[in-house]
Amino acid sequence: MQPLETRKDYTYGTLEQNQLLENPLEQLSVWLEQASQAGILEPNGMTVCTVRQGRPSSRVVLLRGMDTGLVFYTNYLSRKGTDTATNAFASASFWWAALERQVRVEGQLEKVSSTESDAYFASRPYESQLASAASPQSQAIERPALEQLVMDLRTNYPERVPRPEHWGGYRLVPDYLEFWQGRKARLHDRIVYKFKGGKWKKERLAP
Ligand SMILES: Cc1cc2nc3c(=O)[nH]c(=O)nc-3n(C[C@H](O)[C@H](O)[C@H](O)COP(=O)(O)O)c2cc1C
Repeated sequence: MQPLETRKDYTYGTLEQNQLLENPLEQLSVWLEQASQAGILEPNGMTVCTVRQGRPSSRVVLLRGMDTGLVFYTNYLSRKGTDTATNAFASASFWWAALERQVRVEGQLEKVSSTESDAYFASRPYESQLASAASPQSQAIERPALEQLVMDLRTNYPERVPRPEHWGGYRLVPDYLEFWQGRKARLHDRIVYKFKGGKWKKERLAP
């Protein structure tokens, strides 16, 4: 095992408030594009944290689009889905090691429209449609039972699968984002955006 006590100095870039766009979602798009150009695997992978009765739970999902928020798709009956039904507050974070960058997002989750979910589900490959429609995500199950569910669905829908009502998109609508750039000697740059009075305001935080 590699030693856990690594001591890497971060020297890739720097961050100034006036370098960052006024709209943090546009800034996030720029960083996502740069992460993609840098050849990072799944640059749109983000860790989403939900909370039920004070107990947080986090997992990776793939960001599938951005408009007024960050959109991802999942099973509404999963743990994250049922957490969200009682507490809409959630957070997400990205870590792109090659760029020495982190982004943190906080806000509330809302369901995307069923039209959007239909369109996204229809655009997925058949095998992905089968898996997401058949799998009772986050429930206990034996592997043969799971495979049987997929086989049954394949028999019923040999070409395309209709989107189940319990599968669709969430949009994390943020009111707080942080852009973090690693710097030398642990004096990292952190610029946060807060949504107040209908406007985004930026400020620097101590590392
Ligand atoms: C790289 C990666 C991408 C993933 N993308 C998704 C996704 O877009 N949607 C999803 O529901 N689960 C996705 N997962 C699986 C989740 O991490 C998680 O196992 C699943 O959603 C169940 O989480 P829950 O029980 O907390 O609801 C992904 C996992 C990884 C490692």
